[in-house]
Amino acid sequence: MLDAEVRELMQPFVLSDYQVQEVYSRFCLEVARGLKRSTHPQANVKCFPTYVQDLPTGDEMGKYLALDLGGTNFRVLLVSLKGHHDATVDSQIYAVPKDLMVGSGVQLFDHIAGCLAKFVEKHDMKTAYLPLGFTFSFPCVQLGLKEGILVRWTKGFDCAGVEGEDVGRMLHEAIQRRGDADIAVVAILNDTTGTLMSCAHRNADCRVGVIVGTGCNACYVEDVENVDLLRADFKKSKRSVIVNAEWGAFGEGGQLDFVRTEYDREVDEKSINRAEQLFEKMTAGMYLGNLVRLVLLRALERKLIFKQSSRRPEFAGVLQRNEEVFETRYISEIEDDSFPEFASTRKIVRNLFGLEKASVEDCQTLRYICECVAKRAATLVAIGVSGLVNRTSNRRVIVGMDGSVYRYHPKFDAYMRQTLQKLVKADKEWDIMLSEDGSGRGAALVAAVASKSK
Ligand code: BGC
Repeated sequence: MLDAEVRELMQPFVLSDYQVQEVYSRFCLEVARGLKRSTHPQANVKCFPTYVQDLPTGDEMGKYLALDLGGTNFRVLLVSLKGHHDATVDSQIYAVPKDLMVGSGVQLFDHIAGCLAKFVEKHDMKTAYLPLGFTFSFPCVQLGLKEGILVRWTKGFDCAGVEGEDVGRMLHEAIQRRGDADIAVVAILNDTTGTLMSCAHRNADCRVGVIVGTGCNACYVEDVENVDLLRADFKKSKRSVIVNAEWGAFGEGGQLDFVRTEYDREVDEKSINRAEQLFEKMTAGMYLGNLVRLVLLRALERKLIFKQSSRRPEFAGVLQRNEEVFETRYISEIEDDSFPEFASTRKIVRNLFGLEKASVEDCQTLRYICECVAKRAATLVAIGVSGLVNRTSNRRVIVGMDGSVYRYHPKFDAYMRQTLQKLVKADKEWDIMLSEDGSGRGAALVAAVASKSK
């Protein structure tokens, strides 16, 4: 049985029906403001047009390179589109050292071009002409398919000299500086666009792409008439365009203050991008573990957990010393654990605090804390998804999803569905589909449909 006091501690994370409705209305309003030219500058859900206007048909063919930068790792991929909705992907993961994440932009792009050159050499393709799709998962103003001006860094990146610059050009220049491969950057895309495209490759009804990983964001297919910022010449022959919502920034105008907790405020205050990406800080993998860590500290202080142990101050010290000590993946492991053994939970507690025998009650308390933090994240994500699904003109809408939190959390999908059921309009038929390598396959597909429509 859970302590009433533990329930009370977590109450601020439990969204009431009224709060869910209110966040939903405020979110929809921000999307509408982001799309309108007159309100766009003040809106915090920017809704950037991506210039991707064709969804894949499944018959795309050819070999494409893809780069994926935007999470914990950086990847280079070789994607072979084979027609018949089929593709194979060969990829290599490279770490992005912490100092590169906050160094100079030129250094970052030189590193990327270096990895690319090694990859091409390894695959014996140094002399081949290769079109490349660059999945760059940060907020960008796109001026066309291959030009993306970085608006701001997120997710712990902060390289000098890139904000306000065209990342397509920076990558192109880094490749030119080396001069050892014939690679053309043909498209810049967000990971959400990649997710939507890779799901649409399999299921033609996909209209929304969502990432809940290190960061959190979504894109969707919008009618061109509603997208003021799309250049007029792109409205003539095509009816729709993918819009990158960049919903991570939702709340920067105070819209979420009525649901943000003291823990959310602390996460924000200690972050390198204060007052920015507030919705993302309540939903994404980069922050969820930290939220649990802060709640645990409060639970220790109030003697709501590890009551039997005299080492509570020592445990608090462990949690205080390192913001990243409670990893987000623990939330998934703990929620996946079985009662009353709690084997994974006990292992996590042992590794963190050196506590051999966490009681069943301790494990239940810890699980409840994780559950409340994850469920709130899933509810918020589903509020945003509902807003986008309701905006699309299709009756049947598939939502393509990816990201480590969505993928590995045992209940994230189920939590999301509960909220979607409440908010998606009754005349819509919807489902969620897991994306297969959106950042790679999706990038190749964007590059392929772009060359097809030329
Ligand atoms: C970025 C988005 C991206 C998301 C998921 C956010 O921090 O602003 O562009 O799609 O992370 O990777």
